[in-house]
Order: sequence, then structure tokens, then C-alpha cells
Amino acid sequence: MDYFPLFADLKGRPCLVVGGGSVALRKVRQLSRAGARVTVNAPGLCAGLQALLEDGRIHHVAREFDPTLLADALIVVAATDDHAVNERVAELCRAQHKLCNVVDNGSASGFIMPSTVDRSPIVIAVSSGGQAPLLARVIRQRIDDWLPGRIAQLARWVAHWRDRVNQRFATHNERVAFWQRLLDGPAADKLLAGKTREADAQLAAALATDHGAITGGEAWLVGAGPGDPELLTRRGLYLLQRADAVLYDALVAPEIVDLARRDAELICVGKRGGQPSTSQADINTELVNRVTAGQRVCRLKGGDPFVFGRGGEELQALAQAGLPYQVVPGITAATGCAAYAGIPLTHRALADGVSFVTGHRADDQPEPDWASLARNGQTLVVYMATRQLGRVCAALRDGGRPAGTPAALISRGTTAEQQVVGGNLDNLASRAATARTPAVLIVGDVAGLMDELRWFGESAGSAESAAV
Ligand SMILES: C[S@@+](CC[C@H](N)C(=O)[O-])C[C@H]1O[C@@H](n2cnc3c(N)ncnc32)[C@H](O)[C@@H]1O
Repeated sequence: MDYFPLFADLKGRPCLVVGGGSVALRKVRQLSRAGARVTVNAPGLCAGLQALLEDGRIHHVAREFDPTLLADALIVVAATDDHAVNERVAELCRAQHKLCNVVDNGSASGFIMPSTVDRSPIVIAVSSGGQAPLLARVIRQRIDDWLPGRIAQLARWVAHWRDRVNQRFATHNERVAFWQRLLDGPAADKLLAGKTREADAQLAAALATDHGAITGGEAWLVGAGPGDPELLTRRGLYLLQRADAVLYDALVAPEIVDLARRDAELICVGKRGGQPSTSQADINTELVNRVTAGQRVCRLKGGDPFVFGRGGEELQALAQAGLPYQVVPGITAATGCAAYAGIPLTHRALADGVSFVTGHRADDQPEPDWASLARNGQTLVVYMATRQLGRVCAALRDGGRPAGTPAALISRGTTAEQQVVGGNLDNLASRAATARTPAVLIVGDVAGLMDELRWFGESAGSAESAAV
């Protein structure tokens, strides 16, 4: 290890920054955030430092580097654009056993300022020892993305309960075991979901048991998005990685299923048109049985669980059994496919509303009211439309939508296999006769923008107003 990592308490402590430019400003901001009393030594100040001076946030010594200022400084930053001055500051600091950071010069520095994720009280510092600062920044960003949104609240909650846990368990090992179970279990999940009262109740109940165990399964209905694994939400990923079992749909990207815990049970309950699949009743029973047995079950569904996903029925089964659950929304196929095809679903000049309907009907379900859906000025997105394409386009025409209305069929949207076939209500069905599934149909003037706004993947044919 080239540098020893430590977190220093700089509140009210004197720090010296030599230099008055934008680099010095960055360092001053970092030090000020930690509460340091910062003196800036430079003949002039950039606008940002000048503003801090006027706010009374820094002290300014307006002259060339003054070595006498070192005596009072706990740490020093050399941030001038003059290499020789920076070297001199560093040399004098070494002689006086002061820690000095020289910007962009790791070998002359006595300390380096790491890239930080600041979710106080949780602070994570990343350093490459000054060798690859941009890599450190990328790592910092990834950690930031990965951390749950309420990690600071979790830290404060742990602090709040700490004394009571210490009183309850006599030994250090017992306390460690308790906190490990707790932070990996449902109480912490509740807290991170913003349910503080429920988290408190679970922790209190756990403290009251002989061994401090927290039991109880839970179901998490997680939307996995339309295909691109990058579209999974942070909350979805967090829960997926904590589940004991994952029940996933056929449409969920394999890369997302792979993100589950290595020892989690992975069960495909895929439902795909025309192929054998697990019945909805069996999925409901499986969910209820596993949660009753104390498992944390991630029910991973394509798109959004509440958009043509039968998520409501699964929750009803859980609710009727009195079992706990959480729902994590996902990007639904309509918004995902529209975004990746360059079709804005609403547009001030072209569409003042959007409807999502399904082209697939169960035998006992009535047809949608195509005439009202055909209304101009509205965008229509039809799910499960591939096999019904000709029928749906004809119904919209019969309902009064002009045959030249632009339309697009987007297959396997947001994935590397995305294909967009454009046309209008008159010709799309024949143009898209060989289109693959799954696909959504988008109808409306906004579909005419796709050639102009296209940014992702391949497309065939333009959405157009055909002369009829
Ligand atoms: C049973 S529904 C599930 C919808 C899902 N819950 C959602 O919010 O996107 C399945 C239909 O979603 C649409 N779909 C799902 N993923 C898609 C994708 N990557 N590209 C195009 N359409 C997709 C298709 O219309 C497919 O037939």
C-alpha cells in the first residue's frame, strides 16, 4: 500500500491552500465541505474563490507564497500553476513534517485527496495512489450507482439502535452476528424502502427473541424493463441480489437473471404466446408457498409488473394470504421501445395523449373500443399486436383514423436485435409480415418522427402518411 487511508476530522482546523485559480477552488471546496478553516495564499483570486471570500468562507492572504503561513497549517495544498512554487511548498512541508498535497504531482505529495462518494455519514474514498485518477473516478461512480438511495438513513438508523443492541448482546461476536443478519435481512430492506416504523418493529421483535433472529419471507415484484439489461432500476438490482429465490418471466434478459445471488434458486415461470408455460394460478401458488416458508422471493417480470404483466393478480394472491410484498416499477415496453426507436409518445404539436392497449384478447374479454382509440391527436401503443397487426390496423381505420396515419412496429425493442418497421395504417401489416416477437405497435403522427430522431439500431421503412 503506497498511501495509508484515513478519515481526518478537519472541523475548525487550519488548512492552507497556495494558489488562487480554479484548481485551488476545487481543493478549497473539498476542504470546506469537511468544515476546515481554509486560508488561501495567492496574489489574486478566481471568481469562485472571490465569492467564497465575500461569503466569509475563506481567509485570504493576498501575496506570493509566504512560507511563514506553514507554521499554523495542519495540512497544506500546493495548487498554483507554477511548478517551481509547488515544489518549494512541498519541500518546506517535508522539512517541517507537514502533510502537503501537490496537485497533479503524486510523487511530490505527502497525501492525496481521493475520489469520494459522500452520503454522510457514509463516506467512501477511492484512490489509485495518484497513478490513474480517472479510473478512480469511474470506480467511484460505479460505487455511487450501486449504493442504495437511502444508505445514509440506514446508517443513522443503525446508530439510533446501537446502544440497545449493545445492551442486549454481551459479546462482540454476538453483536456482529446480529448486525450481519439484520443488515442482510428484511428489517434493513424495510428501512431502505422508506418504511422506518416497520423496520423498527422488526428490529425490536428480533431483540426480544432468544437469539435475535429476524424471520419472515417477503415477495418483491420487480420490473426488469423491456430488454436492455442497463434499464433495470437500482432498487430492482438491489432486491434481486438479496433474493433467496428468483421467479422470472421468459422475456427477462438472461443478463439480468445472471445478476441474482449465486446461491439463489432460479425458476423460469415464462409465459410465451403459443408455447407451454406455467399457469398464472401455479405462479401465484409458488409465490405464496415460498414466502410462507420464509423465503425472500424476487418475482422478476418483463417491463413493468403493473402493465399487462398480471402483477396485480400476484399481489392479490399474496395479500389474501396476508403476506408482505414490495413492488419495484420497471420501464414498460411502450416507453422503452418508443425511446429506442426515436418516437416521442407525446409531442406538443402532434399528440396530446397516449393510450396503452393490448391486441391480445382472452376468449371472454370484449374487444377494445377501437373507434374511441382511433381519435386523432392521441398516440396509441398496442402490446401483443404482432399476430393481430392486420386486424388492429383495419379496426383503427374503420374507427375513423385516416389510413395514412404513421405507424411503426418495434420488435425486440432496446436489445441488440431491435428492429423497427415503419409505414402507415394502410401498409404496415404487409411491410411487417415477417417481424419477430415480442413487438409493440405505435400508431400516431409521432411515429412519423422516427427517421428524424432515430439513434439506436436498425430500422426498415419510414413511418409515413401514404396517399390513399
Ligand atoms: C405480457 S406483455 C408484458 C408487458 C410488460 N409487463 C411491460 O410492461 O412491458 C408482453 C408484451 O410486451 C411487449 N414487449 C415486451 N418486451 C418487448 C420488447 N423488448 N420489444 C417490443 N415489445 C415488447 C410485446 O407487445 C409483448 O407481447
